[in-house]
Amino acid sequence: MKTEELINTATALMAGDKGLLAMDESTGTCNKRFEEVGIPQTVEYRRAYRELIVTTPDLGTCLSGAILYDETIYQSTKKGDLFIDVLKKAGIIPGIKVDEGTVNMANFPGEKITEGLDGLRQRLEKYYDQGARFAKWRAVITIGEETPTKGSIEANMHELARYAALCQENGIVPIVEPEVLMDGDHSIKKCQKVTEKVLKMLFKQLEKQKVDLRGIILKPNMVLPGLKSPKQASIDKVAKATVSTLLKCVPPTVPGIAFLSGGQPAELATAHLNAMHVKYKGKLPWALTFSFARAIQQPAMETWKGLDKNVKAAQKLLYERASLDNAARRGEYTPDMEQANKPLILTEK
Ligand code: 13P
Repeated sequence: MKTEELINTATALMAGDKGLLAMDESTGTCNKRFEEVGIPQTVEYRRAYRELIVTTPDLGTCLSGAILYDETIYQSTKKGDLFIDVLKKAGIIPGIKVDEGTVNMANFPGEKITEGLDGLRQRLEKYYDQGARFAKWRAVITIGEETPTKGSIEANMHELARYAALCQENGIVPIVEPEVLMDGDHSIKKCQKVTEKVLKMLFKQLEKQKVDLRGIILKPNMVLPGLKSPKQASIDKVAKATVSTLLKCVPPTVPGIAFLSGGQPAELATAHLNAMHVKYKGKLPWALTFSFARAIQQPAMETWKGLDKNVKAAQKLLYERASLDNAARRGEYTPDMEQANKPLILTEK
């Protein structure tokens, strides 16, 4: 195993006040998000949008890594520079989503299992040669009346561990992402209980598969009430529930934790990360940062609308969101920072 390389990559991904950008939406997910804001769903619009992201000025001051997708890792800017090279030049480590999405799990109604282990070793070798130094695999856990079941948690966490072992064999740092979904009307307590169960099973499986915890990054959900829960929680309560759960479950040898945003409004995801740093400054064994997709990209995508003339305004918003997340990682974010420099949005064709 390339232990030193793995530790170096994981350390670089967690450096300073930086975080990660997930720009690894599958074609289906990207199209769905485009449709919601009225952007045509073609390969060229997806390419143009990703070009907008990777060419955002000074993005490398905010981000340590960016997660690409199979389509984007081979794409280039209009000028012909591979996105992966543009990222590297900006000091951003390129990563790659390697799971192939979720499907219904046989015998477990209402639960999902992630696909993509077949042929993964060969794909990882190819991605390493292309320049990727870390990867991502997302497992989803659904909270419902009868779910999650032990069988689904075990199968999903076992897969995450097998994926992580294959990544490390190939010098690629695995981001292990067990996402407890926000869908539903469950309480924050329920989310906390489920997240704890899931994380405990995850680390049991990682140990069984002999994964070196010094060379992984954990990408969990924050502990939150369901989106439809009548009782929403305060920012402090979310920070406390999240960090206390992580302290119970995540060994101190893990170098870093980078949260997904999971459908929270961007400002709230930032405020939650900030509150964790304010409350627990200097008391945590691992680095705590962001690996958001929607909570960084959404305002920029809505502003771009597929129009060239909006590129600069969208890039400004993307940079602004990422730098607010840097402030959150320092515990220095305040909501009044949000109002500064709202850009002009041009909607006409
Ligand atoms: P969100 O931040 O939009 O939840 O996405 C993070 C991610 O990478 C999901 O796999």
